[in-house]
Amino acid sequence: MSQPRHAPATARNRDAILAVLVDVLPPSGLLLEIASGTGEHAAYMAARLPGTIEWQPTDGAVDSLADIDGHARAGDGARIRPALLLDVTAATWPLASASSVLCCNMIHIAPWAAAEGLFAGAARTLDRADAPLLLYGPFRRNGVHTATSNAEFDRSLQARDARWGVRCLESEVLPLASRSGFRLDAIRPMPANNLMVMFRRSRD
Ligand SMILES: C[S@@+](CC[C@H](N)C(=O)[O-])C[C@H]1O[C@@H](n2cnc3c(N)ncnc32)[C@H](O)[C@@H]1O
Repeated sequence: MSQPRHAPATARNRDAILAVLVDVLPPSGLLLEIASGTGEHAAYMAARLPGTIEWQPTDGAVDSLADIDGHARAGDGARIRPALLLDVTAATWPLASASSVLCCNMIHIAPWAAAEGLFAGAARTLDRADAPLLLYGPFRRNGVHTATSNAEFDRSLQARDARWGVRCLESEVLPLASRSGFRLDAIRPMPANNLMVMFRRSRD
C-alpha cells in the first residue's frame, strides 16, 4: 500500500487549532470535520482532545479518503471514524447529525458555492442550538487583506481558478452565516495571518 500524502502546513498550524478545540468543544459527541484533506489534523488532534469526542473526517475528493484512513491507522486513530465522502454542496450529507463542525482551509480553495453548502449543511446537521461551527483560514477584513502574504496567496488562488479566493469576513462570510441560521460567537487570531471564526447555530 502506498504512503498517505502529507500536507506540511498541518504540522505548523495543528497545535493552535487544537488549543481552540480544547477550549470550545463540548466534552462528548461527534465532531464532523469538513474537507479533511490528508487527514493529518484528525490524526494529530483526535487523540489529544479531552473527554470522549469522536472525530468524523470527510472530504469531497474521493482520493483523499485513503490518505485520511492511512494517517488515522498510522497514529492513535481509536477515536477517528472511517473517512466519508462528503461534498459540501450536496443537498444531503452522509451523516444524520453531529455536535460540532470544523472546516479548515476550504472556502478560499473552492467556489463560493462551497461556503454556501458548508453553512447550509452545518445548519441541517448540528444537533442542537448553540452547537459550534469552526471555520479556520485566511480572511480579508472589511475588504482588505491583513498581510501582504495573504494578498499574494489570493492572487495565486485566483490565477489557478477565478472562482477561488480569500473571502471577506464582513461582507461575504458573516452575512452568509446569518442567512444560514448562525450567529458569530468569537474571532480568534491564529498564526500566519489566519483566523479561527467561531459560529453557533442560532436557537430555533
Ligand atoms: C487546502 S485543502 C485543506 C485540507 C485540510 N483541511 C487542511 O487544512 O490541511 C482543501 C480541501 O477542500 C476539499 N474540498 C474542496 N471542495 C470541496 C467540497 N465541495 N466539499 C468537500 N470538500 C471540498 C478538497 O478536496 C481539499 O481536500
